[in-house]
Amino acid sequence: MSYIIIQGGGKLEGALTVQGAKNSVLPILAASILHPGRTTLRNCPRLSDVEASVRILRHLGCRAEWEDGGLVVDASSISRWDIPDHLMREMRSSVIFLGAILARLGWAELSHPGGCELGPRPIDLHLAVLRQLGADLREEGGCLRCMAQQMAGREIALSLPSVGATENAMLAACGAEGETILVNAAREPEIADLQEFLCGMGCKVKGAGSSTICIQGRQATHDVCHTVMPDRIVAATYLSAAAATGGEVELRQVNHSHLSTVTAALHAAGCQIYSSAGQIVLRSDGRLKAAGTVRTAPYPGFPTDAQAILMAALLRGHGATVFVENIFENRYRHVDELCRMGANISVSGRVAVVTGVPALSGAKVRCTDLRGGAALLVAGLSAVGETQISDIFHIQRGYEDAVRDLRALGARIALV
Ligand code: UD1
Repeated sequence: MSYIIIQGGGKLEGALTVQGAKNSVLPILAASILHPGRTTLRNCPRLSDVEASVRILRHLGCRAEWEDGGLVVDASSISRWDIPDHLMREMRSSVIFLGAILARLGWAELSHPGGCELGPRPIDLHLAVLRQLGADLREEGGCLRCMAQQMAGREIALSLPSVGATENAMLAACGAEGETILVNAAREPEIADLQEFLCGMGCKVKGAGSSTICIQGRQATHDVCHTVMPDRIVAATYLSAAAATGGEVELRQVNHSHLSTVTAALHAAGCQIYSSAGQIVLRSDGRLKAAGTVRTAPYPGFPTDAQAILMAALLRGHGATVFVENIFENRYRHVDELCRMGANISVSGRVAVVTGVPALSGAKVRCTDLRGGAALLVAGLSAVGETQISDIFHIQRGYEDAVRDLRALGARIALV
C-alpha cells in the first residue's frame, strides 16, 4: 500500500505549471467517439480517471495511445455499444459515454456509474434529457438499455444546472436531428472547453459558458487536436497550500478568471494575490484570518470541489469561517480526518464552522474522497510534525503527481 508522508511546517516557494483539467478531459474523451477519426489531446493529465476512460474507449473498440506527450484516440474502429459494470464503477464520468455512444451508434448498454461518495449522486437528469431527445431507456436488473435510432432536437430545460447532465445532453444532441436548445445549462468553464472541442470536430455548438446552449445536430467530420484547459481545482489546491504554510508561489498556465471566488476567499483571509494573463502569484505570511461565510454554488459561484481544500487552509486562521455546502449532501467526510490533526470544526447538516486553532499536529489520516484527500495535503503541509496519508488512490484520480509538484515548491513530502 502507498502512503504520502509530509514533514509539515515549512514555507512553499517557487513556480509551477498547472496540469490540464480532469473535469474537462473526461467528457472530451467521451466526446471523442462522435467522430470516426482521430482526436489528439494536448496538456492531457495522466490521471487514474483518464486511464479508466482509456480502458472504456479500448473496450468499445477505439484505439487510444499516449504519443509524444499527448493522448491520441482513433474512434473509426468503434465496434461495441456496451460498457461493463466493472468499468462503469471506476468513476462517475463514465456516464457521459452514454450520450456519446447513443449519438454515434443509436444504441447503448451500461450500468450505474461509480465515483466519489459525496451523498446520493442520482443520474435522473441525465436520463431525462436523453428521453426528451427521443431515447428509449429501460432499466433491467441494474443494467440500462438505451435505444435512440432517431433522436430529435428540441428545447430542454434542466431542473438544475447539473454539469454532467449538460455534457451528456450536448453529446447526445450532436447526434440528434435538428436543433437542441438547452436551458438552465451548467456554466462551468469545462463545458466551454467541451464546446470548443466539439466545434473543432465540426459539430455546431454555441452558448457554452452561458445558461443557454444551442446544438445543431450533425455528424462530427474533422480530426481534431485540442489543448485541454488548465485545472482550476488543482490550482486552488496549490494556492491554498501556499496560503496555509506561508511563502510565495507562482502558478503558470492558469486562467485566473476561473478562480475568482477562490482567490477572493484567500484574499479575505489575508493573502496577497496578483494575477495576469495565464499566471497567479500568491504571497502569504501563513497567519491567516477567517474568511467569513463560504457558500458553494454552481459556477461562477464558489466551487464545491474547493470547499475541503479551502477549509484545510483556514484551520489555523484567526476567528471562525462558516462553510455552507449547497451542491452535495455529504461532502464533509474529510472533517473527521482534519480533526485528528487538531482542527476545531463542527458540522450541522450542510453547515460547517471552522474555528481557527493556534497549531495543527501531524497525524495518521485517511483520504475519504478526491478533494478530501487534497485537503489532507494542505493541512499536513501546515501542521507541526509528520502526517501520514493513506488511501491516496483518491488523490491520484485528480492530481497527476501532487508529490512532485509540492516538492518543486519546497515541501518535505514523499510517496512511500
Ligand atoms: C461535476 C464534477 C464534480 C463537481 C460537480 C459540481 C466532473 C467529472 N465532475 O460532477 O467534480 O463536484 O460537477 O460542480 O465534471 N444531480 C441530480 N441528478 C442528476 C445529476 C445531478 O440530482 O441526474 C445533483 C447531484 O446529486 C448534485 C448536483 O446535482 O447534488 C450537482 O451535480 P452535477 O453538477 O451533476 O455534478 P457532476 O456532473 O456529477
